[in-house]
Amino acid sequence: MFKKQMVLDDVILFRTGKPFNTTAVIKEITDDFDNSEDFPYFEVKEYENYYEFVYEMDKDDYVYGLGEQLGALNKRGKEYKLYSTDDPIHTPEKGSLYGSHPFAFIDGSKKFAFMIDFPGEIVFDIGYTHKDLMTVKVPSKDFDFYLFDIEDKYEVIKKYLELTGSPFVPPKWSWGFQQCRWSYPDADTINNIAESFRKDGIPCDAIYMDIDYMKDYKVFTVDEEKFPNFEDFAKNLKKDGFKLVPIIDPGVKIEDNYSVYEEGKENNYFCKDKDGEDFVAAVWPGLTHFPDFLNKEARKWWGEKYKFFTDKGIYSFWNDMNEPSIFYSLKGFNKLVEIGENLRGNEDMGIKSFLAKEQMFDMANNREDYKSFYHRADDGSTVNHDLVHNLYGYFMAKATVEEGFDNIIPNQRYLLLSRSSYLGHHRIATIWMGDNMSWWDHMLVQMRMLQSLNMAGFFYTGADVGGFGSNASPELVIRWMQLGAFTPLYRNHSALGTREQEPFAFDEETKDIMRDIIRLRYSLIPYSYSEYMKSVSELRPFIKPLHMDYEGKRVKEIEDQYMYGDSIMVAPVHTQNAKGRFVHLPGDDKWLCWVASKYDERKMSIYFPGDFYVDADLNEIPLFIKENKLITISEPMNYVGEKEIEEITVIGLVTDKAEFTYYEDDGETKDYQKGKFAEALITVEKEGNEYKFSVEKDEHENPETGETYELAIKRIKFEIYDEHGNIIENTIEI
Ligand code: GLC
Repeated sequence: MFKKQMVLDDVILFRTGKPFNTTAVIKEITDDFDNSEDFPYFEVKEYENYYEFVYEMDKDDYVYGLGEQLGALNKRGKEYKLYSTDDPIHTPEKGSLYGSHPFAFIDGSKKFAFMIDFPGEIVFDIGYTHKDLMTVKVPSKDFDFYLFDIEDKYEVIKKYLELTGSPFVPPKWSWGFQQCRWSYPDADTINNIAESFRKDGIPCDAIYMDIDYMKDYKVFTVDEEKFPNFEDFAKNLKKDGFKLVPIIDPGVKIEDNYSVYEEGKENNYFCKDKDGEDFVAAVWPGLTHFPDFLNKEARKWWGEKYKFFTDKGIYSFWNDMNEPSIFYSLKGFNKLVEIGENLRGNEDMGIKSFLAKEQMFDMANNREDYKSFYHRADDGSTVNHDLVHNLYGYFMAKATVEEGFDNIIPNQRYLLLSRSSYLGHHRIATIWMGDNMSWWDHMLVQMRMLQSLNMAGFFYTGADVGGFGSNASPELVIRWMQLGAFTPLYRNHSALGTREQEPFAFDEETKDIMRDIIRLRYSLIPYSYSEYMKSVSELRPFIKPLHMDYEGKRVKEIEDQYMYGDSIMVAPVHTQNAKGRFVHLPGDDKWLCWVASKYDERKMSIYFPGDFYVDADLNEIPLFIKENKLITISEPMNYVGEKEIEEITVIGLVTDKAEFTYYEDDGETKDYQKGKFAEALITVEKEGNEYKFSVEKDEHENPETGETYELAIKRIKFEIYDEHGNIIENTIEI
């Protein structure tokens, strides 16, 4: 039985039972429900312990959404099990990854969307069992089903974000390049990496610290032998523009006198087993307990722990293993001992078990283990983990942000990556796409996920550039660095034991090409940042699949081209040995094609709509700037904020009128929310054969201080193309 309530115009909430308060939806839901006799679009089947929603798809219906999933952009033809899983082998048939985003769009004879706020497993069978039926199974009688009876996808997303919150805004430096590896073992290695970037003139803003910085993988510790004078080390790197981003894993090592363990045990902050004992699971440090993030007290305790780092000027983190990943539980281990006597007495193996893969893999992330522990929810009730499984990573982020940063660094912007996530996670943090491989196919996987995640509110996201597992060839890393330059999170990461992937780990020519790509990325930051801030304030995705802007069968099938902001369509080369690629130019607009290699070199041509093969040598990526849209570029720098940007160049193909809103703020604090930002409205207009250029400053006043935030740019250069490819140049001092 469902009751219903109109929560926003054309958004109806259907509620059954007493749903667990996931906090995915921040809009207040009143008690004002009506009984619901009808359920639009779906046939609803009620069983003893579950519901099924069946939708009959038209043969030409497309289904989009579901956020972090493998397989095609159009979700039809596969079964998806939304149950967060640490699965490092991302092959197309897999139905679960790290996050759960039960939010889908139907785009066909009927157009609507729906979101199911239920944190246990949900199975979406989208034309898998029966090619024309979508069956969604929710194994519960307590959940919320939101129906967006809206045709326009932008409007659906806007409403979805009004319900779940607007996407978070990381610091401006997070548009810079970020370098990671599992692991840089000590401070000297990290210092050398930093030095190589600067010596080689390759811009870089962040270096990550993977699990080896910790003492015996104990969370909130630093191994002082490998990282002596940690505070000075962090300070010195910061002076040179490098932000350190430490990994934080939830499993707390069971070890007497280790303060995090002792505090957690004493205060009952850990998840319990059925007998009320702290639940035991092995992860990197060996046997651990899991903090009970569903409990407010435990969240508060955990959130304050980040102070250890924030006091040292480290504001950005990487919450990992929070599905939570389980290598094995004690119960699982004991079963294995029955088969392999040689394991007896070795239950505290931790990381070694990961290396002894064959024996252990079968035990990892076992559903029975997830069923065997419990949370103490904020309302005092005891909840079996399995029913709220998909919340663990999101609630870890809530501990980090709402109970941590909001108290200890309230006005500071931070970059917080998490591996696991749920609906609503995007408003406080983001995710990266987990353990991909240095496989060509995984570039396409990244593009699909990037578009689907943007539709689910994760505007700022990205994958491990160059691939995490397996070895990358120079060609693959170059092509992937080009794609990565057009994804918000631009982080190169690789796994222990694989080939090194930093730009200087390759031959000179490869390094030179990577330097040029990274510089191109930095030079585009004035565009990317302006467009990102606009997309957050307008609640419109930053990355857009072509089907968001154009109609027709042809564009609906395009997965490897997408809009980066409103002006640029990227078409990365993502196949081995290719020297170019086919590109579809949609709509009625002309496009200014920039086959880009260096930020200050132009290889421009004008294209009409249609299908084309575009050449792109190994050092080139085809970019298409939409007619009557503009981009802004500047000189690149070693790191974001190294120098004030005083001059930008505006590029575009203008046949009528084009406008661009250039945006500036301090890039570090949340003061922009109070008006501490400035904009310049840049207009180029063609009248007859003449071009008119204008810049209108909009410098906002901070209502608290009365101060006006002044634009740093002083000069705007124009490089405008007409439809014949002629360049019209101009400069305006402002
Ligand atoms: C997990 C993460 C990966 C990290 C590794 C070691 O596999 O997904 O990014 O490098 O753990 O911490």
